[in-house]
Amino acid sequence: MDTIYINGGRPLRGTLAVQGSKNAALPLLAAAAAVPGKTVLLHCPPIRDVAVTRALLHGLGVPSRQSGDRLELDASDVGTAPDAALAGQLRSSVLLLGALLSRHGHAEIPLPGGCVLGARPLDLHLSGLEALGVRVLCEDGVLHCQGRPTGGTVHLPYPSVGATENLMLAALGASGPVCICGAAKEPEIRDLAVFLNACGANITGAGSDCVRMTPAPLHGASHRVLPDRIEAATWLCAAAATGGCLTLTELRPAHLRPVLELLSRAGCEITQTETTLTLRAGALTAPGTVVTGPYPAFPTDAQAPMMAALLLAEGITQFEETVFENRFRHVCALRALGASIDCTGRIASVRGVKALHGAAMSATDLRGAAAMVCAALSAQGESRITQAWHLDRGYGDLIRRLRTLGANVWIEPKQSSRRTTWNRTESGPTNGEPPP
Ligand code: UD1
Repeated sequence: MDTIYINGGRPLRGTLAVQGSKNAALPLLAAAAAVPGKTVLLHCPPIRDVAVTRALLHGLGVPSRQSGDRLELDASDVGTAPDAALAGQLRSSVLLLGALLSRHGHAEIPLPGGCVLGARPLDLHLSGLEALGVRVLCEDGVLHCQGRPTGGTVHLPYPSVGATENLMLAALGASGPVCICGAAKEPEIRDLAVFLNACGANITGAGSDCVRMTPAPLHGASHRVLPDRIEAATWLCAAAATGGCLTLTELRPAHLRPVLELLSRAGCEITQTETTLTLRAGALTAPGTVVTGPYPAFPTDAQAPMMAALLLAEGITQFEETVFENRFRHVCALRALGASIDCTGRIASVRGVKALHGAAMSATDLRGAAAMVCAALSAQGESRITQAWHLDRGYGDLIRRLRTLGANVWIEPKQSSRRTTWNRTESGPTNGEPPP
């Protein structure tokens, strides 16, 4: 998607099934490269990051076949050096480091890409591998890693999700037991361990701050990807922003606790079972302070959509971003819609306004783009979001699913005959042509 248009002001209503988790699927795909044989992932999300990872694996000699949400991979043979251009598109490509090291005892991984959320160093990944006896050298944008991991204990000074996953993957090929202390506790870490255990690994403690692994032979297995708690949070924020009523199915509400607490404090009515959830929103009031942090704290990935949900909430909501230093890139776009947001360093204060109006925006990152969509849905009039390909990275079939909930949203036709002219105040297009 290059550009999407939204004519806002309609409450979202209806029922949606949540897709498989992006942040679980990407490490699972990397893990597939560590497992000799065939792997089947069910409920695999139809998103661009998965497609890029499949292309990366294909280049390493790991073919894959997708039919619906079923993805089959065959890692009977796998190379050691992923393609730099593809690796550069994804932060999670760095997880191939652990996977290929465990398989071959050496790997050459190009430096990864991903959203521009700050410096995003790899020191925790690399010092953790060094603690397991791996020699690491970074030369000309490529990480050269040598040596099969030994057993031992790694202490992570910060519970990095990616570093925990990378070390778990490397430890699959370790010569002795490995203990990762200070590990990340996100549900996606547990999902990775569930898959690897199904493949024969011996992992305990995943989901706690101490993950223990003992070496074991691996074989292919089948696994159902965890529901996407961030996608679910985004849909709930969109429903809350528009005063809508939304039922989500195929999710785990327990993984969304801080998001649900906040929406409830803002005045949304929420009912849930173990795998479904219904949110009814009316006029919202500011719920106080939102502080992002590692799981089980409020997820940084839901910060931008939640900000969009609370632009009209009466009072002041303060957001403190503690995970990534550059994660308020959506603020300028939200201001263009008429939002009142003061931003200093890692703190943003949102003062609820009476109404938002359509505007032209340019997406900057995946979750920031999701926030722009939520806010545009709640604004009166037409909005345009360029660089909308960011959304394809994490939200499958977004336009169709928005439409099933009653949103008036469309994509710019490739060879456009529309002659929408945007005025310079960025308040909306002037021709008002209806969507196709
Ligand atoms: C993963 C998620 C991302 C989410 C993030 C935090 C995937 C594909 N991405 O990213 O959507 O926002 O968790 O929940 O699962 N850090 C270091 N050194 C390191 C590694 C990390 O300083 O070696 C810092 C980062 O710069 C950041 C913080 O630690 O400030 C969190 O990063 P991390 O938990 O590693 O996130 P990712 O795995 O990159």
